[in-house]
Amino acid sequence: MICLKRSAPSRHLWKEGLISSICTLVSRVVGAMKSQASHPRTFSRGLQTVTLIPGDGIGPEISTAVMKIFEAAKAPIQWEERNVTAIKGPGGKWMIPTEAKDSMDKSKIGLKGPLKTPIAAGHPSMNLLLRKTFDLYANVRPCVSIEGYKTPYTDVDLVTIRENTEGEYSGIEHVIVDGVVQSIKLITEEASQRIAEYAFEYARNNQRASVTAVHKANIMRMSDGLFLRKCREVAENFKDIKFTEMYLDTVCLNMVQDPTQFDVLVMPNLYGDILSDLCAGLIGGLGVTPSGNIGANGVAIFESVHGTAPDIAGKDLANPTALLLSAVMMLRHMGLHGQAKKIETACFDTIRDKKVLTKDLGGNSKCSEFTGEICRRVQDME
Ligand SMILES: NC(=O)c1ccc[n+]([C@@H]2O[C@H](COP(=O)([O-])OP(=O)(O)OC[C@H]3O[C@@H](n4cnc5c(N)ncnc54)[C@H](O)[C@@H]3O)[C@@H](O)[C@H]2O)c1
Repeated sequence: MICLKRSAPSRHLWKEGLISSICTLVSRVVGAMKSQASHPRTFSRGLQTVTLIPGDGIGPEISTAVMKIFEAAKAPIQWEERNVTAIKGPGGKWMIPTEAKDSMDKSKIGLKGPLKTPIAAGHPSMNLLLRKTFDLYANVRPCVSIEGYKTPYTDVDLVTIRENTEGEYSGIEHVIVDGVVQSIKLITEEASQRIAEYAFEYARNNQRASVTAVHKANIMRMSDGLFLRKCREVAENFKDIKFTEMYLDTVCLNMVQDPTQFDVLVMPNLYGDILSDLCAGLIGGLGVTPSGNIGANGVAIFESVHGTAPDIAGKDLANPTALLLSAVMMLRHMGLHGQAKKIETACFDTIRDKKVLTKDLGGNSKCSEFTGEICRRVQDME
């Protein structure tokens, strides 16, 4: 990769920082793509290790619930529990602890509870650090209506796929002069192609009929224009999948009018952050929405996207559904479809029956009771 030569009068210092940030980011994306191509991931049929990051607040309670349900389902998973707290590495760079990094490097698959982001702690969000450490470039959120859990919408069945590494969240911001700041939206050909290919492959592998590219190329002609162009090019190689393109504002309007018209949606970072939460809202919120972050070299971390719920932590009141459904997504990613189906069915049946529900789902049961009910149903299927 060619980086621009620096000529350096001091008034151009911000430009130097900008060029260096862009070079670093682009070389990370390109490097990851090269190494990904040379290390395809396959899963063996025996007992498989998954790195478990229980997280903070209600994280340990909901992680315990998932482990119990997996045990009841006899899922062939062995958990390697690791905590992540930001530590300062050589040169003062923030990093995740070596034990957690080593475990993920070996297992390639992680399940993560919520992590608190202390305000003014001086370190970046741990979620962001994990994303950067493992180049988790695709955030995938299936949003499917849950029978028996009433929301204003029925029959929602769509998936948002968000580019996770660049765009508006590239972290390149500068003060130009006092009172004027600039934030750079970085879009690269490589990252756009990688996310577009992931979206189409996801659609094909999950028997989904269409992919919609969400963009604002009418306004951001160069950046979103490039993203859209790569989506169009990739679509040419997936003739079995219908491709449509739509402006973000039109998607938002149509989504709240009739979400059933959407299938797989692929989009740059900021649009994905907002649209994925909007879609989660259609099916009942973050407490019931699973999520997966897919990375280079076959690494993937599945996570609940709600927070640490400090108000109910340690009180056996938390709803483990989002983490459990994320773990189900993880099983499917690993090719363990039988166990995934069994656990998912037990969870949905429990919610549909409405007899044992946590408070946020409209019931009075404890987390442990809800978990016990799912375990009982899973065991009944044996
Ligand atoms: N993915 C993540 O790791 C993630 C996401 C969001 C927030 N956070 C962090 O979590 C902390 C608290 O954030 P917040 O209060 O804004 O949001 P929150 O999601 O923790 O809580 C919002 C409300 O939802 C309830 N809630 C959330 N998850 C629940 C569950 N599984 N079962 C039952 N009720 C649940 C809480 O009790 C609370 O009333 C902050 O430190 C924040 O940075 C982490």
